[in-house]
Amino acid sequence: MIYNIAIDGPAGAGKSTIAKRVAKELSFIYVDTGAMYRAMAYYLLTQKVSGSDPEEIASACQGAEISIEYRNGEQIVLLNGENVNAFLRTEEVGNMASVSSANPSVRARLLDLQRNLAKVQSVVMDGRDIGTTILPDADVKIFLTASAATRAKRRYKELTERGEACDLAEIQKDIEERDQRDMNREISPLRQAEDAELVDSSEMTIDQVAAEILRIFQEKTAKK
Ligand code: DC
Repeated sequence: MIYNIAIDGPAGAGKSTIAKRVAKELSFIYVDTGAMYRAMAYYLLTQKVSGSDPEEIASACQGAEISIEYRNGEQIVLLNGENVNAFLRTEEVGNMASVSSANPSVRARLLDLQRNLAKVQSVVMDGRDIGTTILPDADVKIFLTASAATRAKRRYKELTERGEACDLAEIQKDIEERDQRDMNREISPLRQAEDAELVDSSEMTIDQVAAEILRIFQEKTAKK
């Protein structure tokens, strides 16, 4: 039996931490679709694409072949055959990913890759449009959110722990701008699917959120 769990939500809601935890618990594969958009953004940055010209993005993205491998349970994103994981977590790449992911050509290049991964194995897939567009028939759909202030604080903590200098107000502003772009784009905007369960993690620990999603999974699949 193949099961698909879709977790969507805004940047910094804790999707990847939670999705990883739930996938491990159920022995499913964790698919991080944001990393695929980030790999595409990284490619565009290396090609000196500015981000303000949609036609330039549409044409440049054709040069990026993105695929996924799993090594010791970790998702490796290959860009034209090369492991680019180490380059994906910067603010520059994140901001470019938010801009370029609004481009239909970019999304079209990643759609089959995402759907095919979920067809052949049980996955916990996180992103923005997994429940609405990529896996509309997912067994469980979660919309995981948290207030912008909470998400900014979490990101600030993560960056300072890594030794990166940053400013909390600046991070919150970036998060709010990214939310606006992700929610208001024409194609596959970030929104809660009608049949998704809303989980607000603002006042919850990682363990509590993971337990809640596992409970929803057991409840939904017990009926099948
Ligand atoms: O989740 P993340 O921060 O790694 O995602 C990076 C960007 O990619 C984010 O701004 C929105 C975009 N994205 C998307 O449009 N659709 C997805 N399924 C996943 C990410």
